[in-house]
Amino acid sequence: MLNASTITADSALSGATGWIDKRHDLRPFPTARTGQPEHGQHEIVGSSRAIRSVLDQINVVAPTDSTVLIQGETGTGKELFAQAIHRLSRRQNSALVTLNCAAIPGGLLESELFGHERGAFTGAMTQRIGRFEMANGGTLFLDEIGDMPLDLQAKLLRVLQEQTFERLGSTRTSRVNVRVVAATNRDLWRMVEQKEFRADLFYRLSVFPISLPPLRDRADDIPLLAQRFLAKFAERMNKVVNDIPAETMDAMLAYEWPGNVRELQNFIEHGVIVSRGPVFEMPAVQLQRQRGGLPREGKTLEDATRAHILQVLNDTKWVVGGKYGAAARLGIARTTLLSKMRRLGIESAADDLRERSTGRHQAFTSA
Ligand SMILES: Nc1ncnc2c1ncn2[C@@H]1O[C@H](COP(=O)(O)OP(=O)(O)OP(=O)(O)O)[C@@H](O)[C@H]1O
Ligand SMILES: [Mg+2]
Repeated sequence: MLNASTITADSALSGATGWIDKRHDLRPFPTARTGQPEHGQHEIVGSSRAIRSVLDQINVVAPTDSTVLIQGETGTGKELFAQAIHRLSRRQNSALVTLNCAAIPGGLLESELFGHERGAFTGAMTQRIGRFEMANGGTLFLDEIGDMPLDLQAKLLRVLQEQTFERLGSTRTSRVNVRVVAATNRDLWRMVEQKEFRADLFYRLSVFPISLPPLRDRADDIPLLAQRFLAKFAERMNKVVNDIPAETMDAMLAYEWPGNVRELQNFIEHGVIVSRGPVFEMPAVQLQRQRGGLPREGKTLEDATRAHILQVLNDTKWVVGGKYGAAARLGIARTTLLSKMRRLGIESAADDLRERSTGRHQAFTSA
């Protein structure tokens, strides 16, 4: 069931432009239907031209069964938009199954996707169905698709084209009806050129590509997002914090936000924690200190992600896990961060640091 706290209910019914106007009307926070404050998990906030254009595209493609490829830097909302596509689709009452290709070791990914029969490999004690079968009739969200090993890419292409596959250890062909939405923060075309990603799969996935703009290219959204996050965290922490000082807002508008909406959200959460009264107390200085720290000219998405993760690791003294570790700050699971670090070659950077600082080494390994 769709509900009014998501973008979906009205947008599905009223078409592309109607609902974005509605989003505008949602300010400060009542929902269209209930008039009550809502801070729904799936709510998409934004009124910039860039985000409106993305929302229009989502409205158009969601009701079809086409494969969608969502590209964008880390924290731009790829998962949130993938969920919106499912909720706006005819499959909304069936499962939305997610698989993060970066979080699962390459060797296990095939059985995660396609399932396996008992005894298919050492340790396969029971039969198990894979994500494609779980998503039958619904949507499969393949996150971090750029991390899928080449041999599996061929098998994925076959399911996308024919909707058929075999479980590991089985000769019986299974047929499914699954809509695939894929996402990546890597430059897939560059990976194709470097023969790390199959061109045929790339073309098959990019039937309908959606590019999520980085937050620095849609600064108009910052005040609205900040207000919405402020209300969300204040409510969650049972505090009254509702006033963002003009200089903090100016600093927020000028900052580059390499971690995009996720970083903004974490910044506001941090501020709400330390605020002692209705005035939001995160010092604007924090943003100035970081501003310009990440030159972006000529950078690829991967470079920007690497630089951002490195910066957060430095800030947390290379502590990855725990409440105050880098993973928590980035808003991702520790295992996801570790796999991103491996992929981006950040471990070797850690090794360099280890040589220079034993203290950091301990912090890093004990995390
Ligand atoms: N337009 C938006 N409105 C409200 N919240 C948003 C918006 N965009 C992103 N967020 C929030 O920011 C956080 C990061 O979004 P999400 O996980 O979808 O990013 P992502 O692009 O998948 O990042 P990554 O590449 O690191 O996985 C989430 O908590 C999400 O709810
Ligand atoms: Mg994501």
